[in-house]
Amino acid sequence: MGEIDTDAFNAFEATGWEAKAVGYDHFFGAFTSRLVDPLLDAAEVGPGVRMLDVASGPGYAAAQAAERGASVVGGDIAEAMTALASRLHPQVEFVYGNAEALPFTGESFDAVVGNFALLHLGRPEQAVAEFVRVLKPGGRLALTVWDAPEQARFLGVFLDAVAAAEAGPPDDIPHGPPFFRFSDEQEFARLLNEQQLEEVQVRTIAFSHSFGSPDEFWDGLLGGTVRMSALVSGQTDEVQREIRAGFDQAVEPYRVDDRLELPVSVKLAAGRKPSA
Ligand SMILES: C[S@@+](CC[C@H](N)C(=O)[O-])C[C@H]1O[C@@H](n2cnc3c(N)ncnc32)[C@H](O)[C@@H]1O
Repeated sequence: MGEIDTDAFNAFEATGWEAKAVGYDHFFGAFTSRLVDPLLDAAEVGPGVRMLDVASGPGYAAAQAAERGASVVGGDIAEAMTALASRLHPQVEFVYGNAEALPFTGESFDAVVGNFALLHLGRPEQAVAEFVRVLKPGGRLALTVWDAPEQARFLGVFLDAVAAAEAGPPDDIPHGPPFFRFSDEQEFARLLNEQQLEEVQVRTIAFSHSFGSPDEFWDGLLGGTVRMSALVSGQTDEVQREIRAGFDQAVEPYRVDDRLELPVSVKLAAGRKPSA
């Protein structure tokens, strides 16, 4: 593992998502949207609440918050994502918004949520400081990340296959922060505590997700991710074949009848900005 090049990593993510908006929505939408209600509950989003959805992607949390009667803005760095979100949810406002330097004045939201936002940011501490800056006193922050690969097996089977093929990160992918850093509950809580949030809690949400076939699962993963797909496409053809063979083997224990049932596990952290 080389040194983290934060600016290069952020630029790689921002560019990468421009090409993955539709693929992400097709594949990940079905299960990241399952976290939306717990996330909105943790942020106490209801009628009249002014909410920001950071790294909003296709806008699942923003749209559901609007359904609850909240007044919502979604912000994302990728134009392809804000364009897709606007198309899918024309009733909600989606804008360009870098999570590490939000284009909003301080104390302008009652709630900030980020569904799988942190993992894509080179400077998570700076981003959380930004989320807290734009929160009104007493406002709530709620964030999700994937659990460790031993629990989030739908990611674990892929990473096991990469490891079995002894495939290292390609030289042209900038090193980013450790992907599973905030799967550790203490580390996740510390991130929020460091910003002086109160009532900080981290919990696990687990369920299983069904895939029709290894092909559907593999194509969806590669079509809807930035870092993971680059990890495969940067290998030689032979190593790519090895990873794919390892993946086909790794998913077999999860076969139920003619489908694959993969465990999904998520950490949800929430806290409140102190009242003035
Ligand atoms: C895994 S997707 C999460 C999408 C969505 N929140 C959901 O519920 O599924 C990550 C999103 O983060 C966005 N992103 C990456 N870096 C960002 C940054 N610095 N600021 C804002 N958004 C960013 C990407 O464009 C992408 O839409």
